[in-house]
Amino acid sequence: MKERNSLYKDEGEIMWKSKYLTGIKFIDDQHKHLNELSADVRQLASEGRKDEVLNRLDNFFYYLMFHFEYENKLMQSREYPMYYDHYMAHSSILSEVLDGMETVISHYEHGIEKLTKTFDKLYENHLKAFDQDLSKFERQSLPQKFEDYYHVANGQLIFFRKWIHY
Ligand SMILES: [Fe+2]
Ligand SMILES: [Fe+2]
Repeated sequence: MKERNSLYKDEGEIMWKSKYLTGIKFIDDQHKHLNELSADVRQLASEGRKDEVLNRLDNFFYYLMFHFEYENKLMQSREYPMYYDHYMAHSSILSEVLDGMETVISHYEHGIEKLTKTFDKLYENHLKAFDQDLSKFERQSLPQKFEDYYHVANGQLIFFRKWIHY
């Protein structure tokens, strides 16, 4: 049986695969939640529950904005060299989702088709390319973030280094 896309089986079962994991906990948690929200949309759409689809699309869109804002802030604070491209990719996906939502209202089936393509693009393209690269950069930068402390014990100066994890 052909899969509708690589995340879901035809029956709508969530197939969160390790290839989408970035190793950065906050990002992975947010991606998983986005995945659950888009799975809800797909499920409801396949059952023809239009009103609920619109409602869940709102949830998806607002959470997507939150998630992109989180990554944008992270990139800025780390002076990530690919910030501009990644930021623009976020903006473009948000516009596509908005366009899909508007189409759902005027031409339901066509709108769902558009959104399905955007979801696939988000997972197959964005998560696997842009977000993996950002996460790699973040993982590499983590060990360089530390604070040094010292104290005196038994007349000796003791230094210690505290690694900062986010
Ligand atoms: Fe991203
Ligand atoms: Fe992301």
